[in-house]
Amino acid sequence: MNTKDFVSIRDFSPQEVQDLLLLGRQIKACPDVYSEALKRKTLAMIFEKPSLRTRVTFDVGIQQLGGFSLYLSPAEINLGQRESVYDVAKNLERMVQCIMIRTFAHAIVEQMAEYAGIPVINGLTDYSHPCQAMGDFLTMWEVKGRLEKLKVAFIGDGNNVAHSLLFAGAQLGADVFVATPPGYEPKANAIAWASERARDTGGSCRITNHAKEAVSAADVVYTDVWASMGQEADAAKRPSVFRNYQVNSELFACAKGDAIFMHCLPAHRGEEVTNDVIDSPRSVVFQQAENRLHIQKAIMLELMKDVAVGPVRPATIPELVHA
Ligand code: CP
Ligand code: NVA
Repeated sequence: MNTKDFVSIRDFSPQEVQDLLLLGRQIKACPDVYSEALKRKTLAMIFEKPSLRTRVTFDVGIQQLGGFSLYLSPAEINLGQRESVYDVAKNLERMVQCIMIRTFAHAIVEQMAEYAGIPVINGLTDYSHPCQAMGDFLTMWEVKGRLEKLKVAFIGDGNNVAHSLLFAGAQLGADVFVATPPGYEPKANAIAWASERARDTGGSCRITNHAKEAVSAADVVYTDVWASMGQEADAAKRPSVFRNYQVNSELFACAKGDAIFMHCLPAHRGEEVTNDVIDSPRSVVFQQAENRLHIQKAIMLELMKDVAVGPVRPATIPELVHA
């Protein structure tokens, strides 16, 4: 992987995305092999929004690799107001070995990556959530045993999570369907990129306003909150707009009999998903959450391999994705 940063899944080749998934599985299977790989390295974690999973999995992940993390809250840095993105980048590159950042504007992460001479990881922006999609496809691969031509139906808002699922699915040859209310479709540039990459990998990408069409014969049914962080002003009107996009047992029944249910979490139970679906034996939401840990360890190892002191790759990587 030649890229310094992990800002977008679009920045990698299909092979590089597969390799990261393979490394994630290897790390999950043999975590002790990597327990000193990033000994005494420090990850700065900048958050402009709240987090449970991202904060905990990056913190635990860097510790399991022998390093440390620093949590920098919104009040602490006050990016762009107390100090410019450029100045924050130029300070941190002298103090830590990697930056993970969660922001509103995607451009802030891109600027941080441009200015900092150290790796920058996108921990969610209004536009994308690449670490989430990587953990999600690792989960699908574990449960379903394949990714090529897997039908993944995302129901709800065409948001950051939908964008990253489109990008990762296109890279991995999956068939990603996104069903949203009219006016809430994913961004046109995300659809265009995913459609083009899917042509190379044998996957596909389809956008519809009909939830049942998307879910029909799906292997994976995925949803997310109707109003994301930062959309609070709009949240009150969304339940009526999204009412027909709730993943309930009736909609889930349109998927394959062995379909799995996924959600990036946090979930608003009773809104985008009902309890009987999220708590059903076919729900893998907590496996998904755990897999954030394993895939982010792979991402950190790959980005910091030049400063690593221990093994960062298994001697041989079996070809598993397209088995
Ligand atoms: N899925 C996810 O990123 O969760 P957090 O917002 O809690 O980090
Ligand atoms: N779309 C959600 C994802 C949270 C992990 C949000 O941005 O709030």
